[in-house]
Amino acid sequence: MLALDADVLDRKLEMFASLGAELDLDVAYAGKALLVGALAKRLIGTSLSLDVCSLGELVVAERAGFPAARIVMHGCGKSDEELSAAVAGRVGRLVIDHRTELERLVELASQARPLEVFLRVNSGIEAHTHAYVRTGGEDSKFGFALGDVVAASARVAQARGLRLGGLHSHLGSQLFDEQPYRASLLAMLEVYAEARAGATSLGEVIVGGGFGVDSRPGSPQSDPRAIVTSLAALNRERSSELGMPPPRLGIEPGRAIVAEAGTSLYRVLAVKDQGSRRFVIIDGGLGDNPRPALYGAYHHPRLAAGRSSAERQTTVCGRSCENDELVTAPLPSDIAAGDVLAFLTTGAYTFSMASNYNRFPRPALVFAGGGSHRAVVRRESNEDLMRTDLHA
Ligand SMILES: Cc1ncc(COP(=O)(O)O)c(C=O)c1O
Repeated sequence: MLALDADVLDRKLEMFASLGAELDLDVAYAGKALLVGALAKRLIGTSLSLDVCSLGELVVAERAGFPAARIVMHGCGKSDEELSAAVAGRVGRLVIDHRTELERLVELASQARPLEVFLRVNSGIEAHTHAYVRTGGEDSKFGFALGDVVAASARVAQARGLRLGGLHSHLGSQLFDEQPYRASLLAMLEVYAEARAGATSLGEVIVGGGFGVDSRPGSPQSDPRAIVTSLAALNRERSSELGMPPPRLGIEPGRAIVAEAGTSLYRVLAVKDQGSRRFVIIDGGLGDNPRPALYGAYHHPRLAAGRSSAERQTTVCGRSCENDELVTAPLPSDIAAGDVLAFLTTGAYTFSMASNYNRFPRPALVFAGGGSHRAVVRRESNEDLMRTDLHA
């Protein structure tokens, strides 16, 4: 089960909303980190927009009643259905990833209902993070190369039914340092200044999300407020040197909003001493918690009911038919079958990346806060697993 502390979530939302108001920032929550109806509903009452990157995420937002004008559609390979949904006004903005998509959109766009678009720019900055969550750098698949942005802007400016709102970049996830953001913003401002000549509607530069969250107790966290404040100052200085009004800045945090609020709870099924190692097997694993296997993510384990026994180095494994070691860390030596084991900081990219590997149903999602709790997504049943099987 994933438990989401609604009080922590609200504090994060409030922090980003007030940062947005103070610095006149456009703040969008990146729904790929975690998007379910109850969360989308909670976002409605904030000043934040919502990034979606698939029709599925869009439908969740729509069913929750999230206003279309505040939805931004992303994605580096949008389907015809997704582009048509955007053109039909089901989102307020769309971020174009590449030239082919731009041309498809020009074909679909309707003068009667112009769509605001942004160009995703690969600012050439390679942030120091795991290769699987790095999205900037010249060798990555994302966005327009810097050298292609001016021509693409001019193409949008000429297209009927499209309005170029600005430029967009996202360097990757788990960034703790402001340097890559600063370098990327400088590169973006150069090309923004050039593109403005042919596309006068340009008014915004989105610098992406990626603010890092570390699950190790006591480890340093990123400071989105400090990073963004420094970017706002850089934006003003460099824009003035380039002789233009500073563009509005935008950010799109996902992890920094939901990661800390989430705790995954598991039941210990077995404790095994094997060779020189101690293994604890839990009633979850690779399917519902894939990030450790995917890119070595660390989620700190803790016994839900504290124990005073001495700690012993323990490897916590899932019950998948893989060597799905989730973490190796000190745990009380009298840990036993039946105990509840918590994994901290699993609010982002855990529930949203879960699969049904081994045909295990995906867990429930519970909102807890203010002394009470309520399930907002029920646990899948075996019947759910059969829903799409035409021969079951
Ligand atoms: C375009 C874009 N924006 C924002 C994000 C959010 O990143 P994070 O959750 O690390 O803040 C992502 C994550 O993949 C992304 O691809």
